[in-house]
Amino acid sequence: MSTIIDGKAFSANLRADLAKKVTILKDKHNITPGLAVILVGEDPASQVYVRSKGKQTAEAGMNSYEHKLDESTSQEDLLALIDKLNNDADVHGILVQLPLPKHIDEFTVINAVAAHKDVDGFHLSNVGLLSTGGEGIVPCTPLGSTMLLKDQLGNLSGKKAIVIGRSNIVGKPMLALLLKESCTVTIAHSRTQNLEDECRQADIVVAAVGIPEMVKGDWIKPGATVIDVGINRIEKEDGSTKLVGDVDFGTASEVAGAITPVPGGVGPMTIACLLHNAVQQACRINGIEMDDLA
Ligand code: GUN
Repeated sequence: MSTIIDGKAFSANLRADLAKKVTILKDKHNITPGLAVILVGEDPASQVYVRSKGKQTAEAGMNSYEHKLDESTSQEDLLALIDKLNNDADVHGILVQLPLPKHIDEFTVINAVAAHKDVDGFHLSNVGLLSTGGEGIVPCTPLGSTMLLKDQLGNLSGKKAIVIGRSNIVGKPMLALLLKESCTVTIAHSRTQNLEDECRQADIVVAAVGIPEMVKGDWIKPGATVIDVGINRIEKEDGSTKLVGDVDFGTASEVAGAITPVPGGVGPMTIACLLHNAVQQACRINGIEMDDLA
């Protein structure tokens, strides 16, 4: 059996460390980091995420500003709110929850958030900085996944990694981060040929495709480290539902050296990394080195 990577415990430590940094920012610098979250519409999964983000932001001692807008909100009104938050000195981070209603252009909205207040790492300038090795803001889920990998394996240099999925939110930034760690990276997607063989070569497997339990145990090289980014709700035979990842945990955990569970693996890391990014932006806006807050 493999080691089960405990993302819940790791993220709790990360949040406790951030809460200490927030206390120092308040006491020494008179700054309370503020994170604004905008939710447009009623998407049930988004509502759950946004509630959780608000709760954990407050628990870390930060100010949480929630803006819930009607599904029919115009793009113009949404852009006006973003402009107001860009110019609000109490707000250090702005997150627009995705997906947005179809009448709103995601690209325009993402890039309307000031790059220095972007906590998702989706703004073009942060995407560019990540790809060129600069100091930007790194998307939360890939950042959390990389933290778990480094904690598990130490140095990743020279490891063979496969990222399954090429989304802008996870796959592509994950590729950039693993390259930065000097891994040899394959990025696989729906058109990849011999995916199972490609997967079997990898010391590190990151699954982010959104297909329930797609990656089976016999796709995994014995001893490999498996990071399951998927969160899929499936119906069981008795009609109840359960959460599963993109990896078939039952068979994969028989072969892998270490594996993240779903839930309790990558999921809790995402919000912890969001808080990390918000504190990071509050520090940068004020010319403070985040690592010096100890
Ligand atoms: N919707 C699902 N994941 C994310 C995320 O990481 N950031 C934002 N803004 N929306 C999301």
